[in-house]
Amino acid sequence: MRAQIEALKAATGRLPRGLAEHVERVVAEADRLAAAFGELDREQVALAAWGHDIARALSPQELLTRARGFGLEVSPVEEEAPILLHGPVGAEILRQEHGIDDRQVLAAARFHSTGRAGMSLLEKVIFVADKIEPGKVRAKPALARVRELADRDLDAAILEYLDQMLVVAREEGWPLHPQAVAARNELLLSRRA
Ligand SMILES: [Fe+2]
Ligand SMILES: [Fe+2]
Repeated sequence: MRAQIEALKAATGRLPRGLAEHVERVVAEADRLAAAFGELDREQVALAAWGHDIARALSPQELLTRARGFGLEVSPVEEEAPILLHGPVGAEILRQEHGIDDRQVLAAARFHSTGRAGMSLLEKVIFVADKIEPGKVRAKPALARVRELADRDLDAAILEYLDQMLVVAREEGWPLHPQAVAARNELLLSRRA
């Protein structure tokens, strides 16, 4: 796994500068969260963090083309907002072009932007690290609340993020990704149980 991490570090260096810096900050946040919550293989965490945005610099058209090329199902919401495909397309790039076959790592990359119902601890750590890295919090100060919650309760942090996303989607007239809705419903109901 060490060699795969090194290969992804090198691939990150070929991404646009701002994106590469974001990825480096996500690696640091994910490692910090993994240390706090224990139970996780730190190399798996590093691999997923380094790889999560491998497809983030692709254009909307490229994302659609690559998704179809990989045989991924493209939903109407993804067709309208192809950026939502950068997780699933990225996971396929990691699997098919970087030889990564760890299913948990691939799932963490695949679902890092939408979330899903039944997320593993690794998926949650990558999802949250991606939202609370200092660059994103600077750009969107409301994320400070997500960051604050993340230190003691990952589920609460995810729920807060999804709630914020819901408000923005309402304001901007954006559709909601069904997997984000499923993740929010699950967290909301489990916390009431
Ligand atoms: Fe992303
Ligand atoms: Fe990211």
